[in-house]
Amino acid sequence: MPADHAASAPRGAFITVEGGDGAGKTTLVRSLAACLSQSGHRVRVTFEPGGTELGTRLRSLVLDPELDLGDWDETWLFLAARASHVQEVLNPALSAGELVFSDRFGDSTLAYQGYGRGLDLDRLRRLNAEATNELQPDMTLLLDVPAEVGLARTRVRSSDGDRIGDADLAFHRRVNAGFRALAAQDSERITIIDASREAPTVLADAFEIVHGWLDARGNDSYNVAR
Ligand code: TYD
Repeated sequence: MPADHAASAPRGAFITVEGGDGAGKTTLVRSLAACLSQSGHRVRVTFEPGGTELGTRLRSLVLDPELDLGDWDETWLFLAARASHVQEVLNPALSAGELVFSDRFGDSTLAYQGYGRGLDLDRLRRLNAEATNELQPDMTLLLDVPAEVGLARTRVRSSDGDRIGDADLAFHRRVNAGFRALAAQDSERITIIDASREAPTVLADAFEIVHGWLDARGNDSYNVAR
């Protein structure tokens, strides 16, 4: 592709929402997308593991409490789901100039498999880069809630077993501490939001942060209202 064409091709914005189990990501992403669509943005919502046929099938495998998986087996499944998500959903949506929200992405692998399971972080970073062909979020919202609070929420919501959600409290604490460490290492990209507050307050905060960021960015390929 000639350089001038590449420069003029639309490129949407890629925002990820991360956090421990029960942090409220799914509700937040849906509400945030609805608010931003109403203000004229072309918004796409997607999630991991899932978002593609392969991702959906891998999700049921990786979360199956009946399946005895090693920590690296678990990691490969998340990475395979991510690779298909990037190729089939994220890259096409970004090339079409959309504002894309993903409920989880590469930081989840660093927090859960790296800080939580104790796998080598540098190797996980390299594998994430391979699986995503170097796609990085433009911005990330980290919903931070104490592990006890998050787990209590998920246990009220569902009694179905989940290999990862059912891991012990110490594991979930390491995951949360891992997410905070990632935010400290990359404070330009990752903004921490206190998600122990009521959902409308968390949404108002998130909306203000994203709206301010979009305004400052000034790229409006995904704003159909302008
Ligand atoms: P999700 O359905 O988003 O869980 P929740 O809604 O409870 O937050 O994700 C499923 C589980 O998979 C969750 O426990 C986090 C875990 N996970 C990883 O361990 N590594 C990963 O790379 C991803 C994407 C998810």
